[in-house]
Amino acid sequence: MTEQTKLVPAARPFLKWAGGKTQLLDEFAKRLPFELRGEEITRYLEPFIGGGAVYFYLNRNFNFEKCSIGDVNQELILSYRVIQNSVQKLIAELEILESDYLSRDERKREEFYYEIRASFNQKLTEIDFKNYNFAWIERTAQIIFLNRTCYNGLFRVNRSGEFNVPSGRYKNPDILDEDNLKDVATLLRRTEISLGDFTRCGEFVDEHTFVYCDPPYRPLNRSSSFTSYSKDGFTDEDQVRLAEFFKELDRRGAKIMLSNSDPKNEDPEDTFFDDLFSEYYIERVPARRRINCDSSRRGDINELIITNYPQKKS
Ligand SMILES: C[S@@+](CC[C@H](N)C(=O)[O-])C[C@H]1O[C@@H](n2cnc3c(N)ncnc32)[C@H](O)[C@@H]1O
Repeated sequence: MTEQTKLVPAARPFLKWAGGKTQLLDEFAKRLPFELRGEEITRYLEPFIGGGAVYFYLNRNFNFEKCSIGDVNQELILSYRVIQNSVQKLIAELEILESDYLSRDERKREEFYYEIRASFNQKLTEIDFKNYNFAWIERTAQIIFLNRTCYNGLFRVNRSGEFNVPSGRYKNPDILDEDNLKDVATLLRRTEISLGDFTRCGEFVDEHTFVYCDPPYRPLNRSSSFTSYSKDGFTDEDQVRLAEFFKELDRRGAKIMLSNSDPKNEDPEDTFFDDLFSEYYIERVPARRRINCDSSRRGDINELIITNYPQKKS
């Protein structure tokens, strides 16, 4: 095994991300293509990377020569690029933030949190998201800091790109996880990172590639008269575009897995995905997720797992 393909057994997500798939890893693991265990699959693509739960999981268990990840979220992609290129400088920035935060009492910690949040939001208009520059390192440190110390621990910006989650209360938050950041950096050295729509990642794919797609969920509570609406900006038209992308990658000979919410949780007659992916393999697996504010309707619901190969449970 060369240095290039050595397993990175410990690398884990460095951000907690909305829609993270850690809870579904066991279900995915049972449905991976058997070619992953041999030498046939050497490349991995994940075009909706988010916090990367599946990317890190797969790289803890399989050797890929080359990976490619992408996302439309510019703050997220900026953070992956900083870890890829400047992990030591990022660690130094986080050390300062961590010791400053931990040395304060509860009230002062809250003040500090809001200072960092204000600085992060204020720099939104100044930052050059296209060209790698030193300001990215401070910004990534702020993103990780806010993620670790905000209420609910989720990094999520509003429509205008501002982070407005209030401060959380943590006794001893793990703001700097140095070992993990170094492991993530090692893994990112064999990973291409792209910012933008998922279709930009298609070129990477050949018959030796495994692809996992985790797009924003199709909303469960839909108004039948307004089918295009989606709070993440990912509409039914985008889901259709993604199905076309899936077919294109299938023609290239890749093995592909895609997950989404099951519209039948809400409406047993809704065959949106069954129709879009009628040529492929569709399974429904239980996922713990709230579907409604009405407590009588909370409970286990299904997630769809769609593949272009038979889902033999191993
Ligand atoms: C459900 S999340 C992925 C979560 C990820 N699997 C994890 O475990 O953290 C969906 C991601 O798709 C991204 N996204 C939304 N529209 C996109 C598009 N058109 N192309 C690429 N990524 C997109 C969002 O920014 C978000 O990070």
